[in-house]
Amino acid sequence: MTHHAPTVAASGGAPTDLLRRLSAIGQEHVLAFWAELGDSERRSLQHQIDSLDLDGLPRLIEQYVRNKPRADLGSDIQPALCYSADHARGTRPWDRARYADQGRALIAAGKVAAFTVAGGQGSRLGFEGPKGCYPGGAVTDKPLFQCLAEWILAARRRWAHGGPAIPWYIMTSPINHEPTVAFFRQHRFFGLNERDVMFFPQGVMPSLDMATGRVLLDQKHALALNPDGHGGSLRALFTSGAIDDMRRRGVEQISYTQIDNPLVRVIDPAFLGLHAFAPDSSGEMSSKMVTKAHAGEKVGVLCRVNGRTTVIEYSDMPEALNNATNPDGSLRFNAGSIAIHVISVAFVRRLNEGGRFNLPYHRAEKKVPFTDPATGRRVEPASNNAVKLETFVFDALPLAERSIVLETDRTDEFAPIKNASGPDSPETCRRLQTLRAARWLEAAGAGDRVPRTDAGEPDCTIEISPLTAMDAAELQAAGLPGPIARGARVAL
Ligand code: UD1
Repeated sequence: MTHHAPTVAASGGAPTDLLRRLSAIGQEHVLAFWAELGDSERRSLQHQIDSLDLDGLPRLIEQYVRNKPRADLGSDIQPALCYSADHARGTRPWDRARYADQGRALIAAGKVAAFTVAGGQGSRLGFEGPKGCYPGGAVTDKPLFQCLAEWILAARRRWAHGGPAIPWYIMTSPINHEPTVAFFRQHRFFGLNERDVMFFPQGVMPSLDMATGRVLLDQKHALALNPDGHGGSLRALFTSGAIDDMRRRGVEQISYTQIDNPLVRVIDPAFLGLHAFAPDSSGEMSSKMVTKAHAGEKVGVLCRVNGRTTVIEYSDMPEALNNATNPDGSLRFNAGSIAIHVISVAFVRRLNEGGRFNLPYHRAEKKVPFTDPATGRRVEPASNNAVKLETFVFDALPLAERSIVLETDRTDEFAPIKNASGPDSPETCRRLQTLRAARWLEAAGAGDRVPRTDAGEPDCTIEISPLTAMDAAELQAAGLPGPIARGARVAL
């Protein structure tokens, strides 16, 4: 496929300054249709171009499009040190009750906010709208946003005693911002106070033609832009005014989660306490992990690289390390990152000091439809034609002074919905929600009420709202259900 650069004349009437700036970096083709555009189309195209860091673009194209940079992994890669899920077990026992108390005190004092990254495009799921609108409840089909909202409501009730709010910041993207806000309005903010829910869009990057490095045109008057990755949240939190809002409210710690996991403990006192008060934490950025299910599981791996806590994304993990085992046969690098962090307001401010803060980019090859500047025709590529550049939030971990990792139980808190079928799908998510519920019922002494298959799997579907119970003990207090029929669907 060849692109013919439009001549300057073909960009007829484009502002000279704009044309000059684009020509200087070989990107003037984005004005190819200027002469045909109406006033508002011209304005919006110019606005898109102005929002890009044009001067930095040639370097990025050289680095990431013309070359495929190998991830710089560092020389000394060791497994991460983790606090065990079972606080009494493992190499470093810890006082869960004390840290949970300290975490609850932070919540009760209004020092904790929830933060959800929901700017991704959910393309793997084949779902058009914002991913948070996707059904997450195993029985009720309640949207993922509601699953998280109910945790926040319950957390405030339990731990802030109706006192200070737990504000919720939601990062959208320019593509899904309006529908996200409309969805919350339509659902009356799921019972939360509208004043305590804030939305802000993340930044974007231009999608680049893989062969030429040219910025792709989505339409004659619009660039093809992609969200800049969840790493963009660390800048967007700052530039959107969210960090200022947190400071006004006295928020000190940000509980970071993804939108794709309805079992996530959006606010977790023990994790907050450990993050803020453990002697080996600088209280800047901490992570949760689960033991990897198998070597090939597609999760980033928490490691210690040159002495610093780091996530190596699954696609970058060297094969030999990925498969390395301990003498007992377990995986040596087994700390799967589940994309749950606590991040301090002070850390986000420090990162943004002195101007435009950027984490390193990661290159992804994608199929991006575009308008051919030579012909004006829309092209649906059959294979990957574009490079998207994204940053990952976990690349900020090594920038923290001392960063801790807490192990959590997979069934208790990790049931992401990423794919339409197969692993991490709505079906596996329903099964995991049911498994967790069955386990809580068992712990509450009501295991016999759960019908089981010959293989011992629950033979029903159960969903527990955080408003009913946030753990097994609370389920007992809330009142247990009677015997559940085979194949029944029960929402508690
Ligand atoms: C991610 C992690 C992986 C981790 C796994 C756990 C990355 C690159 N990898 O994988 O290490 O083990 O989750 O579930 O993150 N998002 C935005 N804006 C963006 C891109 C993404 O808000 O520009 C949000 C999405 O809405 C979603 C989350 O980030 O909530 C995850 O993004 P996704 O690209 O789906 O990452 P995974 O491949 O699932």
